[in-house]
Amino acid sequence: MNKSIRKAVFPVAGLGTRFLPATKSIPKEMLTVVDRPILQHVVDEAHEAGIEHCVFVTGRNKAVIEDHFDTAYELEDVLLKRGKTQERQALLADLPKPGSMSFTRQQAPLGLGHAVWCARDIIGDEPFAVVLPDMLTMACGPKKERCLAQCVAAYEKHGGNIIAVEEVPPAETHKYGVVSVGKTYGDTFEITGMVEKPPQGSAPSNLIISGRYILSPEIFPILEKVAKGAGGEIQLTDAMKALAARQAFHGVRFDGSTYDCGSRLGFLGANVAFALANPDVAGEFRALLKSLVGKL
Ligand code: UTP
Repeated sequence: MNKSIRKAVFPVAGLGTRFLPATKSIPKEMLTVVDRPILQHVVDEAHEAGIEHCVFVTGRNKAVIEDHFDTAYELEDVLLKRGKTQERQALLADLPKPGSMSFTRQQAPLGLGHAVWCARDIIGDEPFAVVLPDMLTMACGPKKERCLAQCVAAYEKHGGNIIAVEEVPPAETHKYGVVSVGKTYGDTFEITGMVEKPPQGSAPSNLIISGRYILSPEIFPILEKVAKGAGGEIQLTDAMKALAARQAFHGVRFDGSTYDCGSRLGFLGANVAFALANPDVAGEFRALLKSLVGKL
């Protein structure tokens, strides 16, 4: 039987340069989509997938992330005294179970692969998930699973390592990690190759690595030795390629939508999509959106 996936790594040490000046003093993961920080949305997704322990790889100027997942005594007290019971309950409901979050630092932004390697001691010798907080996923219906739950289900069925993928127009593939597709079973397929940011026109498919992974701990000694790759950074894709020589990798086509909140357009799209799906604001927001669209 496959070992269960209990822990997830959230690499949040990047500088978010595509979002300056917003990210000069605020971590990009703390920008809000509707009324929750991006990071809270992805932690919710991880909990839905059965993750019990979240490991954040942080960096300088990211201390506010740790505070977000802690109790806010003065605020809770004021809400109680003012009779704002619902708001207080909502805050308390989001509080993680004590001891279910760990924080470690990546002292320099040397790349995603290096950030994941920084979590090695906390993960230990068990398979784990990696969740890129930039990528916000939305299930295609209220009863459907979000992306990480779909990856965990594929892992339970097929074992090995799992990568969530998403289709993009062929002209866009040079910006991402791209996979080659082997034998297919429903929404899952064997990955026969991977390449990080292939030159335009040379990508093996239009399926990009979209920010949710299940990896075996054998990735850590590989990450320790892997040379700097695209962009002068230690790339997770390069280490996964080396691991793929020894272990199976499966791709999962996510049955839903993904928004790249690391880019301004993706972030704006996520706000529109999540607002339309949020019963508190959807009605009024739809009317506002219609009036704005009418002016185009
Ligand atoms: P990105 O490359 O999208 O994030 O990395 P970035 O570097 O913050 O963004 P830009 O390009 O400068 O705008 C994807 C994820 O990996 C994390 C980022 O925080 C982000 O969540 N990351 C990236 C690290 O934790 N460490 C790194 O060295 C690089």
